[in-house]
Amino acid sequence: MVGIRKLKKIWLDGRLVDWDSAQIHVLSHGLHYGYSVFEGIRCHDTPRGSAIFRLDEHLDRFYNSAKVYRMSVPFDRATLRQACIDLVRANGVPEAYLRPIAFSGYGQMGLDPTQSPIQVAVAMWEWGAYLGADGVDRGVRATISSWARIDSRSLPPQAKCSANYANSGLAKMEAVSGGYDEAILLNTQGMVAEGPGENVFRVKKEVVSTPPASSGILRGITRDTVIRFVADEGLVFQRTDFTREELFSADELFFCGTAAGITPIREVDGRPIGTGAYPITRRLQQRYEAALHGRSEEYASWLTYVEPVPLAPSISGMRSAGRSGRASREPKG
Ligand SMILES: Cc1ncc(COP(=O)(O)O)c(C=O)c1O
Repeated sequence: MVGIRKLKKIWLDGRLVDWDSAQIHVLSHGLHYGYSVFEGIRCHDTPRGSAIFRLDEHLDRFYNSAKVYRMSVPFDRATLRQACIDLVRANGVPEAYLRPIAFSGYGQMGLDPTQSPIQVAVAMWEWGAYLGADGVDRGVRATISSWARIDSRSLPPQAKCSANYANSGLAKMEAVSGGYDEAILLNTQGMVAEGPGENVFRVKKEVVSTPPASSGILRGITRDTVIRFVADEGLVFQRTDFTREELFSADELFFCGTAAGITPIREVDGRPIGTGAYPITRRLQQRYEAALHGRSEEYASWLTYVEPVPLAPSISGMRSAGRSGRASREPKG
């Protein structure tokens, strides 16, 4: 498979199977009609081993997406949570991208998905910054897409359904074939919505803004993370619609998402953005890196450690070691 290094295991329908054995039928319903919901999660190396970032928030969104599509996921939340942890441990790769997915499987064809069994998988692979490490450093060149972002009256953007990504793919292909790194999609009202797989932020006179959920975006978990960072930096934040020309006049722009991280946008349709220095974006990137890699006590509760939490010496004989994520909920010593 081009671009992805094979790892050892994939979790499929309740058990860890060998990478090459994670097969599904060609008549899987979701393959034909896009009836699948998924997540994109990352784990990172930290001083205490691999830790999954904001796993619980990703699982919340996963089950919410399934609910929108009347999809009854045949595994409960605790099982999928443990599947993610077990998978990272089984593959022995501390830094990776995890992809839980639930989809209508092999059973019945036709447009009523409720007649097919729901299958669930969690795969993981090693994935660098989606828009490139160079993009994270120097910024990317974006273009406004001629494709409008999906509208909640036709495909609900807040449910992370595979079908949404046909719209993203059209925008991405158009951008790349035009010589750009990434697209920015406007909504059907002509206001800025998001990138094909990232949210968009604007900085103007030290005010940081991003379009509201009602603009037709996926409510990104990185977006939420950045909003917290903006507050912690003592900056003013606004959820507000903005127009294409307000992109051009920004001091700084950036994309953010689990795959892309925080990636500055240095140019939109040939117009350079600000001075190219990105002082605020850099501050947010630094906080993000510290949070992901377990270097920030402030954001420790966002990490789920893959290896059992070491116990304090005074209580180690009294109870067995807890599993990941527990440390952040326990009183800090
Ligand atoms: C369309 C879209 N917008 C935004 C995002 C960013 O979301 P998150 O930060 O939760 O990865 C993603 C990625 O999942 C996406 O696919």
